Amino acid sequence: MELRPATSDDIGSIARLHADSWRRNYRGAYSDEFLDGNVDADRLAAWTDRLAPTPPTSTCTIVAELDGVVIGFAHTVVDDDPKWGSLVDNLHVVHGSKRRGIGSRLMSATAEAVLARTPCPALYLWVLKQNTAAQSFYEAIGGSRAGEKIDESPAGDRIEAFRYAWPDATTLALASPR
Ligand SMILES: CC(C)(COP(=O)(O)OP(=O)(O)OC[C@H]1O[C@@H](n2cnc3c(N)ncnc32)[C@H](O)[C@@H]1OP(=O)(O)O)[C@@H](O)C(=O)NCCC(=O)NCCS
Repeated sequence: MELRPATSDDIGSIARLHADSWRRNYRGAYSDEFLDGNVDADRLAAWTDRLAPTPPTSTCTIVAELDGVVIGFAHTVVDDDPKWGSLVDNLHVVHGSKRRGIGSRLMSATAEAVLARTPCPALYLWVLKQNTAAQSFYEAIGGSRAGEKIDESPAGDRIEAFRYAWPDATTLALASPR
């Protein structure tokens, strides 16, 4: 498996993976109407906006690729918040490849990329309250719960989420198995 920065050529693959992961993992939080309807178009528009014509330096998108197929990605907004640091906005691994260390490697590579770009070593993210599997994952890789919020999904659903934080992403970067 290779980890590399995403390019505009990845827009379709990432958007499909993202929509499929939301359909499988966010049901109950995002409305059925959205997940069974507009989600593919919504993600394609979002990723076209993010990666075309070229990815901006204010964000960092890393893909995991195996035999030419994108099997995971992490998208981060560098220096998003003065206190909490860079925001890991999306992290998804293709359904059939979970629990093989891909999410851990994507988080390590994200930490490395963030540390190379900014003096602020902090990393954080939001995870749906119902997504206990992802919360277990974040705790397994050293994240700590640090607050919660009520927000809106891209489709306008009311959602509740926990913040997970890594005040110093150096530990995550060093955890890389490479
Ligand atoms: C959450 C996610 C990114 C984790 O990626 P992954 O590649 O499956 O995770 P890893 O294999 O690196 O897991 C590392 C460790 O985290 C913990 N962990 C991972 N998934 C877990 C789960 N479902 N339940 C409990 N612990 C889990 C384990 O300790 C695991 O180590 P182990 O497999 O040796 O026991 C992936 O499962 C995913 O894409 N989920 C759907 C989308 C999602 O929820 N994204 C997060 C949005 S905030």
